Amino acid sequence: AVRLRVREALGAREAADAVRVQGWVRSVRSQKEVLFLHINDGSSLEHLQVVANPSLENRVLTFGSAVEVQGKLVKSPHRKQNMELQAETIRVVGPCDIWSFPLKMKERHPLEYVRQFPHLRCRNNTLGSLLRIRSEATAAIHSFFQDNGYVHIHTPIITSNDCEGAGELFQIEASSEVRESAEKTHFFNVPAFLTVSGQLHLEVMAGAFTHVFTFGPTFRAENSQSRRHLAEFYMVEAELSFTESLQDIMQVMEDLFKTVTSTVLSRCPHDVELFHKYVAPAQKTKDRLEQILKNKFVTISYSEAVEILKQASQTFTFKPEWGCDLQTEHEKYLVKHCGEIPVFVINYPYDLKPFYMRDNEDGPQHTVAAVDLLVPGIGELCGGSLREERLPFLESRLQRLGLTDAYQWYLDLRKFGSVPHGGFGMGFERYLQYILGVDNIKDVIPFPRFSHSCLL
Ligand code: 4AD
Ligand code: MG
Repeated sequence: AVRLRVREALGAREAADAVRVQGWVRSVRSQKEVLFLHINDGSSLEHLQVVANPSLENRVLTFGSAVEVQGKLVKSPHRKQNMELQAETIRVVGPCDIWSFPLKMKERHPLEYVRQFPHLRCRNNTLGSLLRIRSEATAAIHSFFQDNGYVHIHTPIITSNDCEGAGELFQIEASSEVRESAEKTHFFNVPAFLTVSGQLHLEVMAGAFTHVFTFGPTFRAENSQSRRHLAEFYMVEAELSFTESLQDIMQVMEDLFKTVTSTVLSRCPHDVELFHKYVAPAQKTKDRLEQILKNKFVTISYSEAVEILKQASQTFTFKPEWGCDLQTEHEKYLVKHCGEIPVFVINYPYDLKPFYMRDNEDGPQHTVAAVDLLVPGIGELCGGSLREERLPFLESRLQRLGLTDAYQWYLDLRKFGSVPHGGFGMGFERYLQYILGVDNIKDVIPFPRFSHSCLL
């Protein structure tokens, strides 16, 4: 027999004898003369209907069990489905104890419910669709950069620097047995951390490969229990040498967003539709998203943003003031003000941003060439900047922060063929949240990690 995935069987053009399909049972319906099964193997949202003689029914052939069905693939009499499988044999590969199985047949379980079962929720339609979309989006991100001449770099997960300087670090150490036997306080001799961003390592590589990117896990010890923060999340980061304008960086952010989104919409239409139909708020639709892909994103400066916010000062818990960080409520307001579309905010106060951002040398409201991309329903999706490539500027800033010793190597980059450069990072989970309209970030990653929770 020819082994087919469910997706292949459903999409077959012609009937075929001797076909074998394996998967998990999503429903069992037994009638007097026929037994109907729906099976799914993760290759598509749609299940394959299996039609069998009731004599093939058996005690362990239940919802959730793993089966192998052999038979004839035929045109389905149902209009909704192209093909169905007429079973000749059904083998239960692994039975399922339905009484203790937390998922129930034909039920649309709430996302908060299935979140309790990280080892089983991938068998749920919504998580199934999410994980297929996530996989396609990952491939589309790699293609976008590879097609545009970027070199992919595996930046390290273990590092001795705090790129963002925000102190939200997870420190790592070998177990005490290892350290005792090696007579070391620190395994690496220095304190080491899980990376918060691959940016500094990308800057090294942009100094040789011109355009580089990375796409991997990043870690932040954020204490907040918010619906848009995780302790472990994936970040897409790009760095471009010979780039003097922030607009060029913003163009890459916008192109990345649009290219990846249109690829996902065309490659996973049914999976995306499930979110827009059953999960997202009413205003989130494919049409709306396609419209956003057609129009140019809006740009405003931080100073303009503060002026806009001040007009509506009474609506905020945190009063907007030049020099203060934009709060989530502010970001939401700005996006709404601009028509519920993605908005770039540029040129943030010098004192709010990390040491590596390029000084705009303006004043008295002193800013750096920074950019955040804000999107409806989420707030910040991407953060980026031009980097300070001028040795004297960087030296004096690091000196004031007392970081000169730690960043000698970073200063070196400004001595040995320094070029104007810049880059950005996009939170992959926030991206998925935005295009799919998912309220909680914990539902767009296979195994969420956040404060007080590390299941599995
Ligand atoms: O704005 P951030 O902190 O920027 C950087 O780390 C830069 N070094 C990136 C660069 O220029 N190469 O983080 C980038 C993005 C944010 O805009 C947000 O989307 C996401 O990463 N992000 C998080 N996503 C989920 N959970 C968290 N705790 C996140 N923190 C940041
Ligand atoms: Mg940021």
